[in-house]
Amino acid sequence: MYKETIEYLKQHGIEQVDVAVILGSGLGDFADELENKIVIPYKDIPNFPESTVKGHAGQLVYGNLENKTVLALQGRFHYYEGYDLATVTYPVRVFIELGIKELIVTNAAGGVNETFTPGDLMVITDHINLAGNNPLIGHNVEDHGARFTDASNLYTNKNQDIVRKVAKDHDIQLKEGVYTWFTGPSYETPAEIRMVRLIGGDAVGMSTVPEVLVANHGGMNVTGISCITNYAAGMQAELNHEEVVEVSAQAKPKFKQLLRGIIQELNI
Ligand code: HPA
Repeated sequence: MYKETIEYLKQHGIEQVDVAVILGSGLGDFADELENKIVIPYKDIPNFPESTVKGHAGQLVYGNLENKTVLALQGRFHYYEGYDLATVTYPVRVFIELGIKELIVTNAAGGVNETFTPGDLMVITDHINLAGNNPLIGHNVEDHGARFTDASNLYTNKNQDIVRKVAKDHDIQLKEGVYTWFTGPSYETPAEIRMVRLIGGDAVGMSTVPEVLVANHGGMNVTGISCITNYAAGMQAELNHEEVVEVSAQAKPKFKQLLRGIIQELNI
């Protein structure tokens, strides 16, 4: 399946890629920054799933930024859409097959840590998987990695340092923390959020963890950025997707600046 997808991408000018970027809810505009763009809707790509969530454009954007070639996914696939995790992580398998070494994953997340405020950007230092599933279950793709994969350094330490440096250079206030994955699509309960705080989670969301596990298995370096869009359940009156999209849109200028800086600093 990958072969057909990759063949198509190559025929459309996507051959050599330095950095892959997955853009979360409300953060898709970053792809507009790329120069000499090639835009391909997911529905045109053989074997690619389609994105069904509002706030996700559902297209792949390739182009140049800061002297690097960048492949951005405007919209990702979520477990709660009903896709199995092999489908959710299919684009990452394609990244690995294309030989891409760097992955930047972004998402909108609820803030659990009481020092976080909506609009904050958080560098992901680690994650907790509370979804009860793992994309590496099943047949192991030996070409990508070993059956039992080390997950000690999923959000590559040197990439975390790059994010800290870029934030400092651009005067962007940066939070740090552990992202906790729930399947969704219902938001968490206040009791679940209290549990997350007890077990060491700082933010909650419905994505990212599957892609990161597959990327790590395939030997990619991962940089993770969450945009904190709301206080988690029980910490504010109510939660809704409109607020998530609205707050991530407000954070866009500094988010774009941070991402551009990271891409510039990545040593490829
Ligand atoms: N919970 C889960 N996912 C989210 C949240 C949240 O509070 N905010 C944005 N995505």
